[in-house]
Amino acid sequence: MSFLKEIERRRTFGIISHPDAGKTTLTEKLLLFGGAIQEAGAVKSNKIKKGATSDFMEIERQRGISVSTSVLAFNYKDKKINILDTPGHKDFAEDTYRTLTAVDSVIVVIDVAKGVEEQTEKLVSVCRMRNIPMIVFINKLDREGKDAFDLMDEVEQKLGLRVTPLSFPIGMGYDFQGIYNLWEKNINLFSGDSRKNIEETIAFSDVQNPELEKIIGEKPANKLREELELIDEVYPKFERQDYLDGNLQPVFFGSALNNFGVRELLDCFIDIAPAPRPKESETREVKPDETKLTGFVFKIHANMDPKHRDRLAFVKIVSGTFERNKPYLHVRQDKTLKFSSPNAFFAEKKEIVDISYPGDIVGLHDTGNFKIGDTLTEGEKLSFKGIPSFSPEHFRYINNADPMKAKQLEKGVDQLMDEGVAQLFTLEMNGRKVIGTVGALQYEVIQYRLEHEYGAKCTYEPFAVHKACWVKPDDPKNEEFREFKRIKQKFLAHDKYGQLVFLADSDFTIQMTVSKYPTVKLFYTSEMD
Ligand code: G4P
Repeated sequence: MSFLKEIERRRTFGIISHPDAGKTTLTEKLLLFGGAIQEAGAVKSNKIKKGATSDFMEIERQRGISVSTSVLAFNYKDKKINILDTPGHKDFAEDTYRTLTAVDSVIVVIDVAKGVEEQTEKLVSVCRMRNIPMIVFINKLDREGKDAFDLMDEVEQKLGLRVTPLSFPIGMGYDFQGIYNLWEKNINLFSGDSRKNIEETIAFSDVQNPELEKIIGEKPANKLREELELIDEVYPKFERQDYLDGNLQPVFFGSALNNFGVRELLDCFIDIAPAPRPKESETREVKPDETKLTGFVFKIHANMDPKHRDRLAFVKIVSGTFERNKPYLHVRQDKTLKFSSPNAFFAEKKEIVDISYPGDIVGLHDTGNFKIGDTLTEGEKLSFKGIPSFSPEHFRYINNADPMKAKQLEKGVDQLMDEGVAQLFTLEMNGRKVIGTVGALQYEVIQYRLEHEYGAKCTYEPFAVHKACWVKPDDPKNEEFREFKRIKQKFLAHDKYGQLVFLADSDFTIQMTVSKYPTVKLFYTSEMD
């Protein structure tokens, strides 16, 4: 197959949702349709049910053995589909944000009864900022939930999206009879007990056909016709370009658990979802069909098996092909590296692969060379934009609890930060180290991993910081900036890239600082444009 055809057939996406909306179930059903797995239950949920560290460790351990859950690839019809796993738990939101830099589109799963939830709002706002094309899947139609129109209103208002349904439910919960597929213009009837089989549906091509009454009853038939008329009047016509530009989000309804509406979603997805898209770098836009390789690290996964200390760096290929044993430039280190066993990921396994294409993810064994955001090229000094650090929400001093193991601690902390587990800030004034995280759970994870993987012990001490603000003065030499540095001395630190950060203790302080030092610009992410 030609290089261009290989690119065109790839669909790399993520599924995002609030925990429990049905992300794992949907992923699994997509794999079933793709023939990538044979039975339900094969995809491990990455859910942290009790919010306990032990859960996290167990998940990580299992993943360490089978990292393939991070990327699930399969072929469906003539397309190669790569699903990137995104943790739903809010403490791991940053991991999800980073993964979103590597997807070309997303599917947003919403629970029909719960509607739009907090985590969905956050993740969708990140996708919106980046104009990532989104499809909405409203799940659990086999249960009583909100009215379909109300729910679409809620999606528009809370998520700031502009939606149009491409399928529509006939009844709901106990009365759920099926869905009308506006994309394929047919009706699929829900048979209720298709949990074990992939699907049992009856196609029905025209809603005006009087046969409809016989199948779903007179009242529901009339109601459906009215609803479809309303949709026609109220919602915009689906135009693929609007969806690709991030200006229109098609909505599907179904029940992942019952395999219902999933095939429709997948078939439409492979038709409309984008193939790998161009990506902005610091210097220029990189197009997937450029022949030279470019790719970037969006995730680093530690091997939780203490016998194998190496890590796996996940690289998204942006352009060109990635070939085994070919030398590539590690741009940040200005070093040429070759990879003898790059991994490709499939539903239940990972395999050494000779060649990968744009849109694919390769896993590279790494002994500490990579950081998140690193770029590989064939010589061009280029780095990709858009892998920001967000301000953490929790801050603690980290102390060494075993003076004999200071080196191990330093190395451990350094490597965990490279993996993106948390962010390290070094106070300007006294060099003390502060760890900032998105969720409190990470502190336990760090402590556990430092001890088990690096043989180092740490303790924490509270540090009252509300937010980390990256500082970018209009003029580093002006008097205002000098005064800011002098007055705020105690609260200034450097992140691991040496960027100046102001650790503010409250929103009030931030407001005061902004008004007092207008030329000293403060940012909540490390991406300062
Ligand atoms: P998540 O990854 O988004 O967190 O959600 P997950 O797929 O694990 O689904 C959360 C719960 O919702 C699961 O039940 C799952 O079986 C259920 N579920 C998913 N899709 C549907 C659906 O279409 N209809 C109904 N009625 N339920 C659905 P659980 O009891 O938490 O877990 P389990 O013990 O069944 O695995």
